[in-house]
Amino acid sequence: MTNPAWPFARQCPMAPPGEYATLREKGPVKVDLPDGGWAWLLTGYDDVRQAMNDPRLSSDDDKMGRARTQLPSDRNLNTFWRMDEPEHGRLRHMVMTEFTARRIKDWRPRIQKLVDGLLDRIEQLPRPLDLYSEFCLPVPTQVIAMLLGVPKEDYRTFAVQSRKILTLDKPEESWAAYQEMNTYLNRLIEEKERNPQDDLTSRLIVDRVRTGELAKEDLMPMVRFLLVAGFETTTSQITLSALTLMTNPEVRQRLVEEPERITDFVEESLRFWSVSQDNILRVVDQDMEFAGVNMSVGELVVLAIPSANHDEKAFPDPERFDLDRGDNRHVAFGFGTHLCAGASLARREVEIAITSLFARIPDLRLVGRPEELRYRHQSLVYGLESLPVTW
Ligand code: HEM
Repeated sequence: MTNPAWPFARQCPMAPPGEYATLREKGPVKVDLPDGGWAWLLTGYDDVRQAMNDPRLSSDDDKMGRARTQLPSDRNLNTFWRMDEPEHGRLRHMVMTEFTARRIKDWRPRIQKLVDGLLDRIEQLPRPLDLYSEFCLPVPTQVIAMLLGVPKEDYRTFAVQSRKILTLDKPEESWAAYQEMNTYLNRLIEEKERNPQDDLTSRLIVDRVRTGELAKEDLMPMVRFLLVAGFETTTSQITLSALTLMTNPEVRQRLVEEPERITDFVEESLRFWSVSQDNILRVVDQDMEFAGVNMSVGELVVLAIPSANHDEKAFPDPERFDLDRGDNRHVAFGFGTHLCAGASLARREVEIAITSLFARIPDLRLVGRPEELRYRHQSLVYGLESLPVTW
C-alpha cells in the first residue's frame, strides 16, 4: 500500500487539511515526502506534544539531512532551532535574556506607539485598502527590526526577502533572497562591530562574541533566524486574527463587551489558525517504540501542529472559534525544549495590534467574501497574501 503524500493542502481555508481527521484515528503513519523519502507523521495532540519534548527525538540539522528541511542549506542554517542539548540551550540562553516577560513588558509602550502611528496613517488613506500591507505586516516587521537594530529604511527590503525565503514553490527565488539577506546582515554586523548601539545584535557582539562565548560565524545565522522567525509568523497571526473578527460578529461583540478577553481571543486564534504548518520536524536518535510503532535511528518525524491543535480529544468541537476554552493548551508555539523563544513578544504584538485596530476603526469590514481571499498555502507559515478592508 502506498503512503499518503505529505504535505497536505487545506481544502477549506479556515481549517487544517481534512486528511488529518482520519489519520488522527490511526496514530503515527508513514507519509511520502516531496524529495522521494518518507517520514512518520504525528497528528494526535498527545503524540505531538510528547514528541516536542522527547530527547530521543533530535532537532539536529545534520542528523536530519539538510535536503529534507526544504530550505537552502549552509552551515548552521537554523541556528539553535535545529540543534540539540547542550549547544541548543547554551545558544538559546543568549537570546532568551532579551525575551523574558519583563523585557517584553518594557517593549509594550514602543509597540503601542508604533501601532498608533500606523493607524493614524491608515485613517488618511483612500479606501478600500489592503490591511495586510498597511498594518499587519509593518507591525511585526518594525518590532523585530527595532529589536535587532535594523535601520528603518531597510525594513521593507528584508520583509520581502524573508517572505521569499519561506516560500516553498520557487526554490531559486528563495535561494537568491537568502543570499541577499546574508550579504545584508553581514554588512549590518560589521557596522555594529564598529559602532555598537542599544539593540540585540550589538549586545550579542559585545557581550557574547567579544567574550568568546559565541563564535563570530554563528552570530549572523542567529540574527537571520530571529528576523525570519520573528515576523512572518506574527504577521500571519495578526492578519488572520483581524479576519476572524471581521467574519465572526459574535466574537467581536463579546470583545467589545469584555475587552479583557483579548488574551483568550489571542490564544484561541493561535490554536485555530496554527500558522506554523509544515516545518516542525524531528529525527529519531535511538531505536524506540513511540505511540505504538517502532521507530529506528535516522527516520524523520513530522509533528503536525495544525492537526494537534484540532484534535477533538483535546479541543471539543475544534473547528469552532471558541472564546471559552478556558485552559487553552494549544501547541501553536511548540512545547518543551524548543518552545518558541518569541512567544511572549508575539502574544503582546497580536494583542496590542488587534485591540487598537478595532478600537480605532469599530466599523472595519472585509471587502468581498472570506473564501475569495488569496491564502498562502505553499508556505511554511500559513497566512494571507492580502486583506482588503473598508469602513
Ligand atoms: C505567532 C507567532 C509565532 C508562532 C506561531 C511561532 C511558532 C513557533 C514554533 C511552533 C516553534 C517551535 C519549533 C520546534 O519545536 O521545532 C518556534 C520556535 C522559535 N521561535 Fe517562534 N513563533 C512565533 C513568533 C516568534 C517571534 C516573534 C520570534 C522572535 C522574535 C520567534 C522566534 C523563535 C525562535 C528563536 C524559535 C526556536 C526556539 C528553540 O529552538 O529553542 N518566534 N516558534
